[in-house]
Amino acid sequence: MIFLNHGSFGSCPRAVLEHQQQFRDRLERQPVQFFVRDLERLLDEARADLARFLHVDAADLVFVPNATAGVNTVLRSLRFRRGEELLVTDHEYNACRNALDFVARQFGARVVAVTVPFPLRGEAEVLEAVLGRATKRTRLALLDHVTSQTGMVLPIGRLVHELDCRGVETLVDGAHAPGMVPLNLRRLGATYYTGNCHKWLCAPKGAAFLHVRRDRQKTIRPLTISHGANSPRSDRSRFLIEFGWTGTWDPSAYLSVPLALRFVGGLVPGGWPAIMKHNRHLALAAQEVLCTALDVVKPCPAEMTGSLASFPLPDSPCRHPPRSPLYLDPLQERLLSEHGVEVPVIPWPKPPRRLLRISAQLYNSLPQYQRLARVLPGLLAAERP
Ligand SMILES: Cc1ncc(COP(=O)(O)O)c(C=O)c1O
Repeated sequence: MIFLNHGSFGSCPRAVLEHQQQFRDRLERQPVQFFVRDLERLLDEARADLARFLHVDAADLVFVPNATAGVNTVLRSLRFRRGEELLVTDHEYNACRNALDFVARQFGARVVAVTVPFPLRGEAEVLEAVLGRATKRTRLALLDHVTSQTGMVLPIGRLVHELDCRGVETLVDGAHAPGMVPLNLRRLGATYYTGNCHKWLCAPKGAAFLHVRRDRQKTIRPLTISHGANSPRSDRSRFLIEFGWTGTWDPSAYLSVPLALRFVGGLVPGGWPAIMKHNRHLALAAQEVLCTALDVVKPCPAEMTGSLASFPLPDSPCRHPPRSPLYLDPLQERLLSEHGVEVPVIPWPKPPRRLLRISAQLYNSLPQYQRLARVLPGLLAAERP
């Protein structure tokens, strides 16, 4: 099978899973020792390794189970005033857009959804679209670092800086960013940044992080209020105490992040920078191949390409609109069942319009995209009435 959907879910290497199992075994051998005596130190060590990778202070970083939880944690901690505006783009991941709509409704705030063109020619079109809609009432912008459906790396440094200058807080959804693009969260300076470790870093499922600027940490509370809320401890911040324990759970995915960083980073000479470069070059080469096969213009310039690339397809012939974004387009099913290619066909911006999105990971190679390019035109032609 040719697997071109690392963007939705990628597999975790066996070595990392075995390491995770060792933590589970250790937990079950003596649960009280593990949870009560050892866990805080183990989590501190894992956070420290991840913080080094992200170029940030470990004291400002906590683990959360996934980026959806990271976005929800921030949004559901904040209080908004009636009439305040919450900025987002029409490329936003559906689950996080739902969270934004949910809190906006609670407080009578207004969600301003900015249209960002796709295909587009350059970063300036994103900057113009987003900054053009920032007003005196804009309180917060929820922005993807790498857009989900359209697979573009947004000019997040410029966006954060310009919005900050206008007094707008930024919540960056970096679900795809760690392991796809170099990250320096200290330099970026977003108010809030969440990212997945279980996508491009190949950590076990259920490992993500939330970084909160120190001046906002008192406001941000975990989705689950637990022992930390009335802890008398003063040896660490309430932020770390509260996020360090949100009830009994399996922390082995968090604890395996350091090995994922080391193991995957050790697969290629040059480590993570070389992996990101390799995947990006492969995605760019795949982009060429598929643009030619589908006879479409390049969806976005090279500087906005990481290890994903999306392409507009002819409208879906399906008469029933998809019930959920996890919906499988019949074309996606045929690609897998008839040609052994797992690649997502995503409804965007609204059905019947749709995109094909490829991913590029170390286990992929150019002939795989060439094979996809050979079979796609025939399948699309067969869809026509
Ligand atoms: C931009 C964006 N945000 C959030 C998510 C959700 O990630 P998770 O399911 O790990 O919460 C994704 C998943 O692809 C995404 O692309």
